[in-house]
Amino acid sequence: MNVFWDTIIEPLITKLKPKHIVEIGAETGKNTVNLLKYCKENEATLYSIDPKPQFDVEQLKQDNNDRFIFYKALSLNVIHQLNSFDLVLIDGDHNWYTVYNELKLIEKRCQELEIPFPFIILHDIDWPYGRRDLYYSPDNIPDAFRKPFQKKGMKPGISELKDDGGLNPHLFNAVYENNFQNGVLTAAEDFMKESIHQLEMVKISGFFGLGLVFSEEMILNKKEIISFIETLKTSETLQKYLEKLELGRIEELVTRSNLGLLYNESKLKIEVNQNEIEEQKAQIEEQKTQFESELLKYQEKLDEQKKTFDQEISKYQTEANIQKNAQLELSNIIKRIENSIHDRNREIEELSNTINKIESSIRYRIGEAFIEATKSPIQVLKLPVKLIKLFWESKKFK
Ligand SMILES: C[S@@+](CC[C@H](N)C(=O)[O-])C[C@H]1O[C@@H](n2cnc3c(N)ncnc32)[C@H](O)[C@@H]1O
Repeated sequence: MNVFWDTIIEPLITKLKPKHIVEIGAETGKNTVNLLKYCKENEATLYSIDPKPQFDVEQLKQDNNDRFIFYKALSLNVIHQLNSFDLVLIDGDHNWYTVYNELKLIEKRCQELEIPFPFIILHDIDWPYGRRDLYYSPDNIPDAFRKPFQKKGMKPGISELKDDGGLNPHLFNAVYENNFQNGVLTAAEDFMKESIHQLEMVKISGFFGLGLVFSEEMILNKKEIISFIETLKTSETLQKYLEKLELGRIEELVTRSNLGLLYNESKLKIEVNQNEIEEQKAQIEEQKTQFESELLKYQEKLDEQKKTFDQEISKYQTEANIQKNAQLELSNIIKRIENSIHDRNREIEELSNTINKIESSIRYRIGEAFIEATKSPIQVLKLPVKLIKLFWESKKFK
């Protein structure tokens, strides 16, 4: 609605001079700020209603004191609490049930308070939501009034929702359009038909369409407003021209929205890829750290094994040296023993030679003794003594 501020809403308000303004659907608060500026300058009060405002409500309250009263709620739960309203801007939940009942409640409250029906400014009376419901929160709409809906986009001239792209693909849009109790304009028309007031609606094409709904009573004797409203009524030719302009604008919007979707999809894909790359990088880093620590452990183990191995080798080398020395010593001993055996053998040989010589000498002397004995009897007597002597001699050598 903000887009209509300087060309339609502000000029209208300055002529209407409302003291109590109700805003249904504040969203980012752009229009709220404009309305508050008017309220400050004209000692008026703004009552804003939105279950999900997207601005700092407390800050705006602080800046405007009691000129700004905010209801973080659904319009249908608030209207019966309001005590005064000269102007109501309806731009909340764009569906038949909500808009029809907002208008009904406003009318009922006016009767209770015995005040005139307020001036109504209604957004989204043209395509896409003039004849098709949108549900911000489908659960808030009673089953009997909620049309089948899907989170899919729309294209002008095509009744079916689009499988991809289109306008507002992120919102819950009714599957059908142009039928019974469907859309914002239908709601306003149905209400007006049943109203106890004589109501008129002036439609302004462009930017999804704006409707000004007012009673004769409301503008009675207010010449300025009457003539301003007259300026808003266009000729048939100009109306067609405006509708064509709006169609072009919407087609641009759809193209832009499709491009936006494509951009977001690509951005998302890039982000997913980047995240995957980051994850893989982190995994590689982790594996590298793990591998390095394993390597360090193996290196330490290897060093330890090398140390033990070196110690074993030096132990074996020492033992081998000891054994080699022992072998050397043993072979020396063997050699010495062999030499000694050799010496002993030689000695034995020499001795046996000597014995042989002595034995042959004793045999010779024995023979001599026997020959001597043949020579005289005394010699015979001496023979045994000589033989015993020789025997002992030979024994001694042996
Ligand atoms: C199109 S935006 C309003 C834009 C705003 N009027 C502007 O001109 O900047 C619709 C807003 O209506 C609010 N909304 C939805 N359902 C509502 C309800 N039942 N009562 C009041 N506000 C509602 C949404 O939270 C959203 O912020």
